[in-house]
Amino acid sequence: MENTTSKHSKHQAFIAQAEEALKENSSAMDTTFRLHYHMMPPAGWMNDPNGMIYFNGYYHLFYQHDPYQAKQGPMHWGHARSKDLVHWEHLPVALAPSEDYDKGGNGGQGCWSGSAALHNGTLTLIYTGHVDGKTPEEVQCLATSADGVTFHKHEANPVIGDSPDPVCFGFRDPKVWKHGDKWHMVVGYGKDGLGKAIIYTSNDLLSWEYQGAAVESDGTMGDMWECPDLFPLGGDDRHVLLISPMNIAPVKNLYLSGTFDYESCRFVKQQAEQIDYGFDFYAPQTLIDDLGRRIMIAWMNIWGAAMPEQAHGWLGAMTLPRELKLAADGTLRSHPVPELSVLRGQHISAADIALADGGLTAIDNVQGDSLELDIVFDLSKSSASELGLRVRCSGDGSSYTEIRYAIAEQRLYMDRNLGGAGDGGVSEAPLGQLEDGRLRLRLFIDRSSLELFAGDGRIAITNRVYPDPANVGIGFFARQGTAVIETLDAWELSSIW
Ligand code: FRU
Repeated sequence: MENTTSKHSKHQAFIAQAEEALKENSSAMDTTFRLHYHMMPPAGWMNDPNGMIYFNGYYHLFYQHDPYQAKQGPMHWGHARSKDLVHWEHLPVALAPSEDYDKGGNGGQGCWSGSAALHNGTLTLIYTGHVDGKTPEEVQCLATSADGVTFHKHEANPVIGDSPDPVCFGFRDPKVWKHGDKWHMVVGYGKDGLGKAIIYTSNDLLSWEYQGAAVESDGTMGDMWECPDLFPLGGDDRHVLLISPMNIAPVKNLYLSGTFDYESCRFVKQQAEQIDYGFDFYAPQTLIDDLGRRIMIAWMNIWGAAMPEQAHGWLGAMTLPRELKLAADGTLRSHPVPELSVLRGQHISAADIALADGGLTAIDNVQGDSLELDIVFDLSKSSASELGLRVRCSGDGSSYTEIRYAIAEQRLYMDRNLGGAGDGGVSEAPLGQLEDGRLRLRLFIDRSSLELFAGDGRIAITNRVYPDPANVGIGFFARQGTAVIETLDAWELSSIW
């Protein structure tokens, strides 16, 4: 039988091979759609954020990764770290499929999504070993590291070798957190057509006791809950559960806010809403940092999309890190972390800009593909029925993405039907309760992404767009009436790479 040392060297040999492939593939990439200030893999494929943890002065971000190709294959864990949540440094691949519980089969296989924990000073990764067609197909596994870079798969793997019921639709994506002296794990699960968040507890991360489902779908929330993340937020026993539910298109992400009782391990829901209303926001994960902030990052793509960057030798980006807060009414608020302001360069500021009915108004020097915009419309001075802006406009006006607020409907739209390559589609979100008659939009434009925030963090819309790189125009509009931009701030954002 293979001993632990030879297993470890076999794992390290797979990692060395992956690193070689990455070096080669990164020099052969087409960089047209590479982003300026978002986390991306050095080359190859990336999906879910994994193992997010603040540790020894660094934010660690692991991710689902195929270093060999820009499509989903045998999943590795890529690894990056950051001191400020803005600048990312790539570290060696942390996990490669190497054992019978995470390698083999003809289809999906690998070290699937999971989380990280610091246990007795040891950085520990908790992940799903997935092998298509194997019985059981999904098990929960550990890997530990003394230096935060090289990881050893645990000899006790799999630490959870069976789902609660062998007849289920998914048992994966463990997220672990500590409450008092006990480790808690929430796992994504599907059974009888209902997505569920099931709970295990442990004293040592090795031996786990099943505690049942904290909460499950009411029949409208999908048949499998991928990548659950359950954490305290807002004080008392208030908690938030983030899920990526399967098979309730077009909805791809939800949060449930409510209370979690550590005695019974049951969650009682107060609110359920989308976390982000865009097309490209999936599998969010959070960490808590040294300032006590709850920070969320999501995969800024979606399964099944056209993904034009695949043909360029890479796929996948992470959203900007967003700080989460829970409002008294149970609504989740997300704001891009303030650290991002270090990227700000040239600043244009304007005020009291009148928008005529119809047409597009450009503002001197406000254009680009790497920008932050902060726009306040004074609705009390507006007679229009809709207002907004077009970004990434071509010179001839035929290609753009439009952000539009319909005032009577109280709905915010992002329309990328004429946005360029890739999928079209219109994202929409309800947006009432505007602060003192004003609509404030914060928009982050990067070379192939748009992230829009409104309603004091209640609404986020995240989409990938793939315009011609030359399309950098921006124009503002009002329709069926006039409108006024009270203030506008635009910053050029520098590249982190
Ligand atoms: C979510 C997901 C997870 C799984 C991983 C595989 O995007 O499907 O459920 O662990 O991706 O890469």
